[in-house]
Amino acid sequence: SEKWILMVTARTPTNIAVIKYWGKRDETLILPINDSISLTLDPTHLSTTTTVSVSPTFHQDRMWLNGKEISLQGGRFQSCLREIRARAQDVQDKKKGIDIKKEDWQKLHLHIASYNNFPTAAGLASSAAGLACLVFSLAKLMNLKEDNSQLSAIARQGSGSACRSLYGGFVKWVMGKEDNGSDSLAVQLADEKHWDELVIIIAVVSARQKETSSTSGMRDTVETSALIQHRAKEVVPKRIVQMEDAIQNRDFPSFARLACTDSNQFHAVCLDTYPPIFYMNDTSHRIISCVEKWNRAEGAPQVAYTFDAGPNAVMIARNRKTAALLLQRLLYNFPPESDTDLGRVNNFI
Ligand code: PMV
Repeated sequence: SEKWILMVTARTPTNIAVIKYWGKRDETLILPINDSISLTLDPTHLSTTTTVSVSPTFHQDRMWLNGKEISLQGGRFQSCLREIRARAQDVQDKKKGIDIKKEDWQKLHLHIASYNNFPTAAGLASSAAGLACLVFSLAKLMNLKEDNSQLSAIARQGSGSACRSLYGGFVKWVMGKEDNGSDSLAVQLADEKHWDELVIIIAVVSARQKETSSTSGMRDTVETSALIQHRAKEVVPKRIVQMEDAIQNRDFPSFARLACTDSNQFHAVCLDTYPPIFYMNDTSHRIISCVEKWNRAEGAPQVAYTFDAGPNAVMIARNRKTAALLLQRLLYNFPPESDTDLGRVNNFI
């Protein structure tokens, strides 16, 4: 009987939204109520490495995350696997005696091993990198003909924000108009070289896992907040256009103002949800004050901040010099404490 194994390994960084995605119009297909824009990090930090393999000796699809087996039964994993298998192509390697026909992929089983190069428990966006990497590596293994944008529409069904990690640099997730989600996908606005002076610093305020998952948080917001309708219809469409301009022109003051106000509005929408959702804590608020004070004193923004569904601060400095000053300032204002006391900023990535 056949004994071969075929493997593909890929690495994908996470992405940080500067115009946030919050709220779905379709929960199963993961279709958002507004466009969003993000920055994909460089793969050195906060990335996922995934090896996917196929062999006729495998008897079921299995997955390991950081060495521990996890279930693939969830609807989102199943959607991704189904969508990829449906597009699989023939794969041949004469030397190894491998000859897979596209219909064989329906019966062949996969083993998937995924590692995060950052603490998964730190409450830092891990699903974005993970699902993007899973979809990309499987697409390579099964020889899909789809481009990254089309693959992003598959990754989107695993985790919304994952669709933006299929590209580096600045990426827009276009919400799309279709009910089937075919036009809800990621497009690259500018590649990673376009604005490479920017430096990202992440302050780990708390390593605890977030209390409200983004899925249930978004659902509650869409059901109970009046502010979210105003945000999605009136505010974000204008900000998307302005943010695209700021990125094209490398206009840091506009970029920073848009990123900070959009993060603040996302957290305001969380507070407008009933029952209210608190993702930021006192330390997060103190970091905002510290950055705002500095920016005001300088007369022009030097640093932008943005917070996702947790208290950790993502700061974007306009260049390396500013990043070095920012680190000094943060260490002075938030001296690192022991691992057990996470009430203060204790780590910078
Ligand atoms: O893709 P999810 O379900 O992890 O949601 C991500 C939501 C935010 O991180 C808060 C915003 C964003 O656009 O990434």
